[in-house]
Amino acid sequence: AAVGKGNYRHFMEKELHEHPAVLGDTLRQYLDPKTLEVRLPRLPFDPARIGRLTISACGSAFLAGMVGRYWIEQLARLPVDADVASEFRYRNPPLADGGAAILISQSGETADNMAALRLLREAGQRVLSVVNVPESSMARESDGALLTVAGPEIGVASTKAFTAQLAVLACLAIGFGRARRELSTLDEGRLAQTLLEVPSHAAAILEQDAQIRELAMEVAKARDVLFLGRGAMYPIALEGALKLKEISYIHAEGYAAGEMKHGPIALIDSDVPVIALCPSGPLFEKTASNLQEAAARGGRVMAFTDAEGEAALRRFAERVIVLPRIGEFATPILYAIPVQLLAYHVAVLKGTDVDQPRNLAKSVTVE
Ligand code: G6P
Repeated sequence: AAVGKGNYRHFMEKELHEHPAVLGDTLRQYLDPKTLEVRLPRLPFDPARIGRLTISACGSAFLAGMVGRYWIEQLARLPVDADVASEFRYRNPPLADGGAAILISQSGETADNMAALRLLREAGQRVLSVVNVPESSMARESDGALLTVAGPEIGVASTKAFTAQLAVLACLAIGFGRARRELSTLDEGRLAQTLLEVPSHAAAILEQDAQIRELAMEVAKARDVLFLGRGAMYPIALEGALKLKEISYIHAEGYAAGEMKHGPIALIDSDVPVIALCPSGPLFEKTASNLQEAAARGGRVMAFTDAEGEAALRRFAERVIVLPRIGEFATPILYAIPVQLLAYHVAVLKGTDVDQPRNLAKSVTVE
């Protein structure tokens, strides 16, 4: 059956509003809410017996992979190499015997990632794909596939499939951590509990729509926008910038907050909004001090944080949006939602073709 827009103006808006349901469905697929245990189907490799993991993907799926790298390295102490498929396939990467890879793709048809998949398999790697389309080429040609339960995604710019990819990767990171004896049952339960809080917090963020639309009115006036984040929030800064570029055609860059002083700080003036992803937690102080530097140079800091980070940021930020507080582990999933929503509202204000942005395709099946 054809998928409709329902009461929404665009597929993208509808799909943004599906975040809570999609996250709930995807988490329930891999996590038992009663026992708080991650339950993965049989994987094509044993995470306890590999020495290194390759992640390959394109576009937003690659940014999900970057978050996956932070999580898997932290929780499972497994070295991860994450690259965009178009680079990976041509850089002749050394791949040790018995290695493993995770390929991430909404469509499961992206040409560069298909080529990466074939290259990996020829090099004797065991490949697990994380896809949204069960009958896709990638799902079929991989040694195993995990599904994101996002349903059909029509908007060209990925939204709910991205957070669903993050949900699967979060479960994988926990599962790998347990398999490699890096996580206790207690740790696993605590992390699972945090993940299970995501859907209801996602719904609460969607209720903050008016606030995000106000921020969008400021951003829509800009010619350049900077997104900053640290740790697993850095790939979310990249996702915010990517989404804004894709659908509003405003130039945006995502940067690791600590790297700002090595370049982008030269751009900062009162015309460039600095969107900061700054939840409370171990990286808060460092990020806040980077932001304060931006403000000291006339930068207009617009920060996303939680109730605990609010007061410190209000001292110098022009705008602070207070999101629900959640355990640090799940912040990348949650903070992806307002940055996607922000891009959506900016695009609507600019009057662009939100669901079919110029020059872009939903699934890029040519090189
Ligand atoms: C296109 C889409 C992006 C998507 C990327 C990767 O560029 O516009 O939203 O992230 O392809 O697609 P895939 O289907 O492999 O996730």
